[in-house]
Amino acid sequence: MIMKSRLLLAALCLLIAFQANAQRPRPNANLPKWEGVADTPQMGWSSWNCFMTDINEELIKATAEAMVNLGLVDAGYVYLNLDDGWHGERDENGFIHEDLEKFPSGMKALADYLHGKGLKLGIYSDAGNFTCACYSGSLGHEYQDAITYASWGVDYLKYDWCFTNDVNPKGAYTLMRNALGKAGRPILFSICEWGSNKPWEWAADVGHSWRTTGDIGPAFLPVETSYDENGRRRWKPQSVLEIIDKNEPLRQYAGPGHWNDPDMLEVGNNITVDGVYYEMTDSEDRAHFTMWCMMAAPLILGNDLTKITPESLAIITNKDMIAVDQDPLGVQGLRFRNEDNLQYWFKPLVDGDWAFCVMNTGEEDANLVFDWSELEVSDELSGRSTSFDSVNYMVKDIWNADAKQVPTLVKGKGKQKGQLVVNKLNATVKPHDVVAYRLIATK
Ligand code: GAL
Repeated sequence: MIMKSRLLLAALCLLIAFQANAQRPRPNANLPKWEGVADTPQMGWSSWNCFMTDINEELIKATAEAMVNLGLVDAGYVYLNLDDGWHGERDENGFIHEDLEKFPSGMKALADYLHGKGLKLGIYSDAGNFTCACYSGSLGHEYQDAITYASWGVDYLKYDWCFTNDVNPKGAYTLMRNALGKAGRPILFSICEWGSNKPWEWAADVGHSWRTTGDIGPAFLPVETSYDENGRRRWKPQSVLEIIDKNEPLRQYAGPGHWNDPDMLEVGNNITVDGVYYEMTDSEDRAHFTMWCMMAAPLILGNDLTKITPESLAIITNKDMIAVDQDPLGVQGLRFRNEDNLQYWFKPLVDGDWAFCVMNTGEEDANLVFDWSELEVSDELSGRSTSFDSVNYMVKDIWNADAKQVPTLVKGKGKQKGQLVVNKLNATVKPHDVVAYRLIATK
């Protein structure tokens, strides 16, 4: 009898506990990523490429002013992202604080200041115990950190992958996604695990973009391995051309809300690392920027905006090029041909338009004369074809605003008099440079 009532009691307890649990929201319940924050690739500026951890409130405010005054905010660059090095210590309850020596007014005040200027604040953390520059990582503090960021008014989180031994990548990024969902403020979630665990295969529901490569530097051609005087191998960046090759085969995984991220922009930047100086020419910067737009990449500037040259500014504010990147169809461009140091790329755009560019990776001028019909594209991914024999496009030269627009179909002469025939493109592409066009489908 006693035995029976004990069993009954135990069953009752279990039932009550089960019901209580079912009613209480579980802190680690799966929550969807924030929708609508990256329908087109994110645009902004980040402190890392130029300043690394040498950041402070004064620099960030000067950058914010430059972003407004140079017309960058109007051009779409709205995120101002603090990368590694903003961190102070965790308090006795485990909450992270900003470094008040670098940011004396605090992060909340900085967010308010940026929001008042039409900008948004991005911040950086890491799925491991430490960030790559050895500040406190978020492992074990994911929910606390997400709540803290939301309370500061943060709009963007880049989440890195250093010091993550034995951490499961999908689990770690999903945990932070859930934490951001729970914190209740829409925050763009930028996954930065360098493509090591193929995030394109599992992260479409987890984050809004994922890095596909290691760290970029201002180098167009691949950098040779070299050693310092102590025989230690020097750090070397991934070059623009290497990154393009890695990012190009992943186009099927990108789309609105989930982008391949071939890393931040190096236009107008120069750095010295391990005693080696890196810089690109204006031509290389133009080619780099064009390719990022053709690949629907996030456009996160990485240069010192307080010292920008007119040439760099003209590159990053080219409205027609930005429109290619931000096209609402959200299809990553395709490499149509890659031979003799020439890369031909197409990207389908809204309203039947296409973006087309040719990049010259060689050391000599390339003179192009071709009939558009030689470049017929049939893209399975988007289900689109150029159909040059039947669709007439007006060809707009994106890097030469003064050029006259020409049609792809013209009335023939001689025997073909009066008939529509395919027109020719005639262009010169400088070494390490690009020509780019918008083909506007005439209705
Ligand atoms: C790297 C990351 C860089 C930068 C750096 C900060 O892992 O790829 O973009 O964020 O960490 O330490």
